[in-house]
Amino acid sequence: MKKLAIILLVTSIVLSADTPEQIHVAIGSTPGSITFTWSTRNPTPTSDVRVTTGSVWSYYTGTTRDFKDSSNIWVIHSVTAQLTPGQKYTYEVGCTSTGFTSSYSLIVPVDSAPINILLFGDLSTHDTGDSTWTDIEGIAKDLLIQSMVIAGDMAYNLNSKSSTRGDDFMNTLQPISHYVPMMVAAGNHEAKDNYYNYLNRFDMPNTKFYYTFTIGYVRFLAIHTEAFLTETDMLPDMLPYIKNVLNRSAEDKQKYPWMIVFGHRPMYCVCDSSDPACTTEATTLKYYLESMFKQYDVDIYVNGHVHNYQRTRPVYQGQVTSYYDGYTSTYVNPTSTIYVTTGGPGADSTNDPLNLNGAPDWLVTGQVDLSFSVLNVYNNTHLYWQQLESKNNQVTDSFWIIKT
Ligand SMILES: *[C@@H]1O[C@H](CO)[C@@H](O)[C@H](O)[C@H]1NC(C)=O
Ligand SMILES: *[C@@H]1O[C@H](CO)[C@@H](O)[C@H](O)[C@H]1NC(C)=O
Repeated sequence: MKKLAIILLVTSIVLSADTPEQIHVAIGSTPGSITFTWSTRNPTPTSDVRVTTGSVWSYYTGTTRDFKDSSNIWVIHSVTAQLTPGQKYTYEVGCTSTGFTSSYSLIVPVDSAPINILLFGDLSTHDTGDSTWTDIEGIAKDLLIQSMVIAGDMAYNLNSKSSTRGDDFMNTLQPISHYVPMMVAAGNHEAKDNYYNYLNRFDMPNTKFYYTFTIGYVRFLAIHTEAFLTETDMLPDMLPYIKNVLNRSAEDKQKYPWMIVFGHRPMYCVCDSSDPACTTEATTLKYYLESMFKQYDVDIYVNGHVHNYQRTRPVYQGQVTSYYDGYTSTYVNPTSTIYVTTGGPGADSTNDPLNLNGAPDWLVTGQVDLSFSVLNVYNNTHLYWQQLESKNNQVTDSFWIIKT
């Protein structure tokens, strides 16, 4: 009797040490492809996901990588499954021989159908980020959000406190990210130790730094903006990739009429004159990207880095190129890219100040209060953007893009 009790105790310790946490999903490189990622303290014989739409499980096996930051040690598991767009699945992660988690469910993002997407950059898991976390969890449920786009600078920082801050971030996210595919770009705050946390924690398509995926009527392109400023050795590979994706998107407008690029750093914004983000650094990004965006009809560029919200008129080389109707907040057939900074969901105790007096005529509006973005893409002619203030979910700015 005594012996049995000891064995049970030992078993339960091993089990709890192996309980998967930090569960999150991402969209793969083809429609319907989903990558499941989670962490355990100890290795398991295999890394498996099982999914079902009814009573029969389908099994998928993946790979692991070791994660170590001083005494904070993990095994990170990654499994990719080709599923059916629009289908709802029940899934469990774990190991066929040692056991699975309880059941979760997710709806695989749809292709060629209306979608809602959450977007923001620069969100911490401490300090002022808290109210935004509560909000986006509710919004994700209420609006059937199908993807979450994060334009870099996560957790402040993923690597802080022997990377336990990163663990907290992934666990804070799990109520959303276990069913809303999370697509991330790296910011300057991810750069520590050659992006060790970023590269290990996330499974993005292609290089993880720059990649493309489609959802609804949109083709997205993630770019790595540090490459334009400090990591220029990445440019010979990244620039042709960007050009190819944009070219493909231009050829593929029937299926994916909207092209949205996101990255951490801004191209058009206003900020304090002592901050190079909106001046010399933005100029460098424009040098590499702006003419390609124009040539291939990029609809929106989304970034963080500057801690507030701003959006522009359609602008090219500093000149407004087409009419924006301020009464109905509508861009009708814009002839160049619209630039949106959504970097104010809560990084520090206060966001960056914003002085709209004397701002250039390409700037439409901005706000300093904590906020995040929700994008509704209805069809191939109508796209609607809402900026929601954290704490009360009030819509503080919104706009349409309509293509006739
Ligand atoms: C895409 O690239 C091909 C090959 O260079 C070219 O023929 C085609 O015109 C390009 N498409 C667009 C829309 O620029
Ligand atoms: C596209 O969506 C908008 C907004 O819901 C709607 O007004 C419009 O009629 C739709 N267009 C088509 C072709 O369905």
